[in-house]
Amino acid sequence: MTDSTVFDQDYLRDPHEVFARLREQGPVTPTATAHGVKIWLVTRYDDVKAAMTDPRISKAFAGNLEVFKANELEGGDSRGAAAVVPDNMLFSDPPDHTRLRRIAVKAFTAGRIRALRPRIEQISARLLDPLGTEFDLLEDYAIPLPAMVIGELLGVPEADWPRLIRLSGTAIEGSAHDPAEVVAAAQETLAYLTDLCAAKRADPADDLISAMVAVHDEDGGIDDVELISTSWVLMVAGHETTVHLIGNGMRALLAHPAQMARLRADPALLPDAIEEFLRYDGPVATGTYRYTTEPVTIGGVDIPAGQLIVVCLLSANRDAARYEDAGRFDITRKPAQHLTFGHGVHYCLGAPLARVEGEVAFRHLLERFPGLRPAVPIDRLTWRPGMLMHGLTALPVRTRP
Ligand code: HEM
Repeated sequence: MTDSTVFDQDYLRDPHEVFARLREQGPVTPTATAHGVKIWLVTRYDDVKAAMTDPRISKAFAGNLEVFKANELEGGDSRGAAAVVPDNMLFSDPPDHTRLRRIAVKAFTAGRIRALRPRIEQISARLLDPLGTEFDLLEDYAIPLPAMVIGELLGVPEADWPRLIRLSGTAIEGSAHDPAEVVAAAQETLAYLTDLCAAKRADPADDLISAMVAVHDEDGGIDDVELISTSWVLMVAGHETTVHLIGNGMRALLAHPAQMARLRADPALLPDAIEEFLRYDGPVATGTYRYTTEPVTIGGVDIPAGQLIVVCLLSANRDAARYEDAGRFDITRKPAQHLTFGHGVHYCLGAPLARVEGEVAFRHLLERFPGLRPAVPIDRLTWRPGMLMHGLTALPVRTRP
């Protein structure tokens, strides 16, 4: 077992190149996290898909915690990775998962997403209106948009949005922060959401937390801690993911002007283009941690019980065994069937919302800025560090030559 990490400078420069090498070398790669915990990477499409539905591979939080500690390498520190608000669907297996997901499914209806669309349009316009001829598409647009949408969806008062953006940023990319900072952020978020859920119970409004409180009070099934934790997962999962759908998708279009021109000429291609943004350079590089509850064999390799498994979605989506010319960006490619939203029972609950946000964002950006171009050469753009997310540090653009 190696104690060096695959998530090094080479990975930061070009994760696709690293994953291509790993897929070539074998179905699974033993490596370590940046904080010295032993993990196994699954990199090929079919294996990633199978691992996400294998009942012997668990996401249950308590078990994960034990396996984390057991797999700390010398000098390793697993506290940061374990510092989450845990009692929710993302960190549980059926039947707990089924029970925990149900309440959110009941409240997060298609009708609620439909009703949110005009608000997303307004928020997007509010962000775009003051922009000049040069701006950072991430900082000035892609980062605030989904944060404001998730704040609006959950019913978080607008004054608190910046604080929640900071907290969810620390939570989602634990591997890029100091473990103590991640623990503190998780505690602060928990305290905030506890107060918010109490406030919604006392004074319900037309928002997702109030709706979940109502479902919870009507048919029970989950306790208060679980309700708060479910609000947490929606907040965290709904933010940075969508940021990088917009950022990575726009980077791909700017790097491929012929595809950009094609999309401008035929806006009806947008839904397919969004699926290709998600496949080609999806915002989520890996699933959250899983572990083996008993020995499993992945792609012919035996992995003992008690091992941490990381499914590499970014890698699966570029697997040449699954996609013809997998490294080619093609907005007319279909059907994509990418794994960017996961697979199986944990399939992303927010996928319909993310798609609506993506549609609004790209439509507005393309309509408003017919001359949009990168303000720095595309190959100078840099990726942010971390294992879970795949997104740019900045995307400077100009609207005129
Ligand atoms: C482009 C944007 C998004 C991407 C790529 C994405 C990706 C994912 C992935 C890969 C998973 C499964 C993780 C795993 O199995 O380890 C997941 C789960 C989840 N996502 Fe998303 N997500 C996005 C946007 C959102 C939004 C906007 C929300 C909510 C407002 C959301 C809420 C959730 C929730 C609650 C789960 C947990 C589902 C479960 O465990 O049953 N996501 N997402």
